[in-house]
Amino acid sequence: MSEQTGVLFVCLGNICRSPLAEAVFRDLAERDGVAGRFVIESAGTSNYHIGEQPDSRTVETAARRGVRMSHEARQITAEDLDRFDYVVAMDAGNFGRIRKLAGGAERRSELRFLRSFDASAAAVDDLEVPDPYFGGADGFDDVHDMVERACRGLLDHIMTERPL
Ligand code: 4NP
Repeated sequence: MSEQTGVLFVCLGNICRSPLAEAVFRDLAERDGVAGRFVIESAGTSNYHIGEQPDSRTVETAARRGVRMSHEARQITAEDLDRFDYVVAMDAGNFGRIRKLAGGAERRSELRFLRSFDASAAAVDDLEVPDPYFGGADGFDDVHDMVERACRGLLDHIMTERPL
C-alpha cells in the first residue's frame, strides 16, 4: 500500500460500528473525489459474526442518510496490523485487544480511537463509539452521527498528513 493509504476500522462484532465507519469513510472519500487513494476495510476483534452481513438496523439507518453498506464480517488478524496504515478502534475494549494482538512488536499501522479524530469528542475526552447492538433504535442514529463526524476528521487528517 505504498501509494494508497490503508485504513482498517475495528469493533467487536464487525456487523454494526466498524462496517458503518468503513461505508461512511468511503462515501466521504468518494464525494471528495479521493477514494482511489485509499484501501478501506473493517474487521471485528471477536469471531461472533464471521461471514454475516451488517446488522439490519445499522444498514437501515445508513440508508436513510444516503450511505450504502456492503460487507461480510471478518475477524482481525495480526497481519492486518502490518498491512494497514491506520487501525481505527471504536472503543477501549477493541483498542486493548488490538494492542494485545500486536504482541508488543513494532507494527506498520498507527492504532487510534476513531473519535480521536472528532475534535468535539476529543475535547471532552469521550473517545468511545458505544456498542449499539443491545440498545434501542436511537442508539443507531447516535452512532451514525458520531461515526460521520469522526470519519470527516480522519479523512481531513490523512489528506493533510499525506498530501499527494
Ligand atoms: P459491533 O456491535 O461491535 O459494533 O459490530 C456488536 C455486535 C454484536 C455483538 C456485540 C457488539 N455481540 O455480542 O454479538
